[in-house]
Amino acid sequence: MSVRIEQGDWLDLAPSLAPASIDFLYADPPFNTGKTQRTPPNAARAGRNARAQYADRFGSTADFVRFLRDRLFATLPALKPSANIAIHVDWRTSHHVRLLLDDLLGPDRFVNHLIWTYGLGGSSPRCFARKHDDIIVYCLDPRRAHFVPPRVPATSRRLAGLTKKATDVLDIPALNNMARERTGYPTQKPLALLELLISAFCPPAGTVLDPVLGSGTTLVAAQNARRHAVGFDINPRAVSIARVRLLPPTGTAPKGGDRPESPGD
Ligand SMILES: C[S@@+](CC[C@H](N)C(=O)[O-])C[C@H]1O[C@@H](n2cnc3c(N)ncnc32)[C@H](O)[C@@H]1O
Repeated sequence: MSVRIEQGDWLDLAPSLAPASIDFLYADPPFNTGKTQRTPPNAARAGRNARAQYADRFGSTADFVRFLRDRLFATLPALKPSANIAIHVDWRTSHHVRLLLDDLLGPDRFVNHLIWTYGLGGSSPRCFARKHDDIIVYCLDPRRAHFVPPRVPATSRRLAGLTKKATDVLDIPALNNMARERTGYPTQKPLALLELLISAFCPPAGTVLDPVLGSGTTLVAAQNARRHAVGFDINPRAVSIARVRLLPPTGTAPKGGDRPESPGD
């Protein structure tokens, strides 16, 4: 399976993609938190990854939406007619992303609003604790879009040991401090989440694109699931972590060990 990684802006690199070559576009962009996302302090032990960081600031929500719109628009020619698009965001922008995709593709292209519930993180005295991210999924053509319902362990006692079809609520733990796959890159997502999404939305031997690859989770998951993969990131640190990560077949981190954190950006 081939893997291509490029350092640069998604907007500049999108035209380098072959027309109608991508089966599944997954993007986990900065969430517009207004912060600089840094490797957590305890991850300094992670050695070469200790300084990984990126700016998560767009000025306004309108600027964030424009950032995403321009890049998605530039990527549309690279998608196959059967392709799916999944945009991973949170409560700050998921409603805007839904409207953006309605506008770009049409409301009838909506597939799912997936909830990734992960458990970790703090709580608030002012509202229910925010413990999920939103993954907004659209397709290009509802009659041709690829979908294979993934199976997850059944939770009822009656079905103990069996599996059931996954629902639109994906209960997958965030990476904890013992996770071997942890790289130290901030906002790294778990391989289990990406493997599930890829198995559902990308056909076997198809091609996955992650134009904001971060630590390269999507590319490792694609490799594990025997799909081709293409990844871009503007941050040279992300690109070097992803390249190292893709060397061993298991995709585990080159070094690991830090505290649990909220995966939300
Ligand atoms: C939330 S992180 C991705 C984390 C990734 N899913 C993982 O599991 O490690 C978002 C990434 O977007 C990258 N990024 C921000 N603006 C970009 C742009 N214009 N083009 C490409 N990458 C960009 C950042 O450098 C950062 O690595």
